Amino acid sequence: MKDIRQIINEALEKVKNADVSTLENIKVEYLGKSGVLTQILKSLFSYSIDDKKRIGSEANNAKSVIETEIENKKENLKKSLLDEKMRKEKLDNSKSFYFPFSNGSFHPVIQTIQDITAVFKSLGFAVAEGPEIETDWYNFEALNIPDNHPARDTQDTFYIEGMKALLRTHTSPGQIHVMEKHKPPIKVIVPGKVYRNEASDATHFSTFHQVEGLAVDENITFVDLKAVLSDFVHKFFGSDINIRFRPSHFQFTEPSAEVDMQCIFCKGKGCRLCKSSGWIEILGCGMVHPNVLKAVHYDSGKYTGYAFGLGVERIAMFKYGIDDIRLFYENDLRFLKQF
Ligand code: PHE
Repeated sequence: MKDIRQIINEALEKVKNADVSTLENIKVEYLGKSGVLTQILKSLFSYSIDDKKRIGSEANNAKSVIETEIENKKENLKKSLLDEKMRKEKLDNSKSFYFPFSNGSFHPVIQTIQDITAVFKSLGFAVAEGPEIETDWYNFEALNIPDNHPARDTQDTFYIEGMKALLRTHTSPGQIHVMEKHKPPIKVIVPGKVYRNEASDATHFSTFHQVEGLAVDENITFVDLKAVLSDFVHKFFGSDINIRFRPSHFQFTEPSAEVDMQCIFCKGKGCRLCKSSGWIEILGCGMVHPNVLKAVHYDSGKYTGYAFGLGVERIAMFKYGIDDIRLFYENDLRFLKQF
C-alpha cells in the first residue's frame, strides 16, 4: 500500500512538470499495457482474497487519480497554448489597412428606377408591381388593342410557346391589374421590366424598363397630367428644363401625346445627344380610353384618368450622358463602377 501511495505521488509530480509530448509517455509508463499499475494488478493472483480486494481497489483508485490528473493537465496545456496563440496573433483593429475590393452599388437602371419612384412618391403616387409574363388580355385586349389590330405588331412580342402567354411588351398591363383590384381614386406608378422582340442597336434592346403611371378619379383632366409630368421633370432634371407635348397615338389613351424635354446637355441649343434638335423624347401619355375603363368595369361616365409610360433606360442615358443602351446589359465593370 505504501508503494502504491508513493507511485501516485511520483506520477503526479511528473505530470505537474510535463509538457504535451512527455504527458503521453507518463500515461504509458503508469497506465499502459505493461505500465507500473497494470503490473501490480496482473500480479494480484498470488495474493490472498482479502489482499486482492484491498490492493486491487487501491491500484484501481491510483489508476483513476493519475488518469484524471493527466487529462486535467492536457486540458490546461491546450488552453495555455491557445492563450499564447491568441496573444501572439492578436489583430490590431485600429490599424488602417489596404482593402483591395471596392464597395458594390446598385445597377444604374435600378438606381434610376429608385430615383424616379422617389419623385413620384413625393407627388402622392403609390407603387405597385405586375407580372412580367402576361396573358393576351392584360397586354393587349383590355388595353383596347383587339386581335388583328395593326397596333398589335406581332414581331414585337415574345410569345411563350405552347401557352397562351407572352412577355409583357410594356408596363401598361399593370394599369389593368391595379384597376381590377382597387376602386377609384387611384394614383399609382408601376415600375418594371418589359420585353420586345426586336433587333438591338444603340437605342434599342430586347429587354428594358418602364415606369407606368395611372391616375383615375372624378374630374381628372389633361391639365392634371401636364402638371404632374412637368413637376416630375423639374424635380428630376432641374427646374430650368422645359417640356412640350406632341400629339400622338396609343390605343389605350385618347387623346394621346408624347412628351419631349429640353436637352439637359445643351439646354435646347442642339447637340450630339439630342441630334441637334434641342429636345429629347422621354415618354408616352394620354387620357385613359373609355374602353379601358369599361374593361375593368369602371363607370366611364363618372370617372376619367390619365396614364403615362416612361422609358427608364432613356432617362438614365440622358441623366448620365450614356450613348449606347447596350452598355447597361454587358456588365462591364469599368462601366458599372462609375455609378
Ligand atoms: N405603353 C406605351 C408604350 O410602351 C406607353 C404609354 C403608357 C402610353 C401609358 C400612354 C399611356 O409605348
